[in-house]
Amino acid sequence: MNWPNGASRKTDFCVASGRSRPSYLSSESGQTVESTIDPSLSSVSANPEKQSDLLVARVNEVLKARLGDTRGPADRLHEAMRYVVFNGGKRVRPLLIYATGQWLEQKLELLDAAASAVELIHCYSLVHDDLPAMDDDDLRRGRPTAHLAFDEATAILAGDALQARAFEIIASDTQLAGHPDAALAMLACLARACGVGGMAGGQSLDLQMEGSRPDQQAIEHMFKLKTGALIESSVMMPCALCPDLDPQQRDLLARFAHNIGLAFQIRDDLLDIEGQTEVIGKLAGADQAHHKASWPSLFGLPAARERIDALAEEAMGSLQQLPGNTTMLTWLGQRLVKRDY
Ligand code: IPE
Ligand code: IPE
Ligand code: MG
Ligand code: MG
Ligand code: MG
Repeated sequence: MNWPNGASRKTDFCVASGRSRPSYLSSESGQTVESTIDPSLSSVSANPEKQSDLLVARVNEVLKARLGDTRGPADRLHEAMRYVVFNGGKRVRPLLIYATGQWLEQKLELLDAAASAVELIHCYSLVHDDLPAMDDDDLRRGRPTAHLAFDEATAILAGDALQARAFEIIASDTQLAGHPDAALAMLACLARACGVGGMAGGQSLDLQMEGSRPDQQAIEHMFKLKTGALIESSVMMPCALCPDLDPQQRDLLARFAHNIGLAFQIRDDLLDIEGQTEVIGKLAGADQAHHKASWPSLFGLPAARERIDALAEEAMGSLQQLPGNTTMLTWLGQRLVKRDY
């Protein structure tokens, strides 16, 4: 499957030596986002694939504007931050934010901060996930991982700084200035998703499970934290803009996100076994090489596929009970569980 922006992952081994300057670093970022974005985006009549394409372009512009250029006192760190953000990520989490926002009939301008912030948190999590102390991986999004392209200390600091920037973006967003309660709720939601009860806690469980054989409940609990939490926060953050949202509808959205998040990580584990390095942009077979507890390695490939289908069906069932325009959320949910990279 190709992603909406028409890109398929290409492994760019030509930068494997590490230090070549990525070409995008020469482009720059002072421009305002609004000037480059198609205003018709908010139209619900556009087809989801086209909308998704435009939304990926939108969040990339927002990220460029929010990350600035590399001139400054810590330009090497800044260059590393940009290296790990502008490298062909699918932007799944920002897309979920915009799609949920569309369902809530919110303006895109009010969603940009959350969309860019969650992507920065995700990028930081990938940089740290790849470190020698964690998964010790060499390839990410088809390029050398940050600690190889730069050095380990810079990779650690780039993760730290991306995390801080994410929260700063929401806290200082001019569009959200008129919605302080929503901004605060978004910050709390994202912080919860990153912390000990979310991504970081899940990563810790993942490392503790290396070389062991957890049961299904234990591995899925770990998935819910390490991967599901950020995916769920991407669906729940836009809800901060609608404090009067019907609690039942909110629960249905949360169920959708929970099931998609789990399916997303099982699919990731499957792709590690069945995918090709050139397509997934990560070294295929890395989970087995690192004795990771992975869903298909524990319970088999057919069972993994069946589990993904069951979770997807449940997720779609939740969406079907929601009123309003769920076109984009449905399309995205289906894409996420069927992804090839
Ligand atoms: C990879 O996430 C890490 C997981 C949580 C499974 P993505 O598959 O969203 O990675 P990118 O952002 O497209 O590289
Ligand atoms: C991703 O899990 C978890 C994160 C929070 C980054 P993986 O370790 O399976 O992700 P990949 O396969 O390296 O992208
Ligand atoms: Mg990992
Ligand atoms: Mg990993
Ligand atoms: Mg993986």
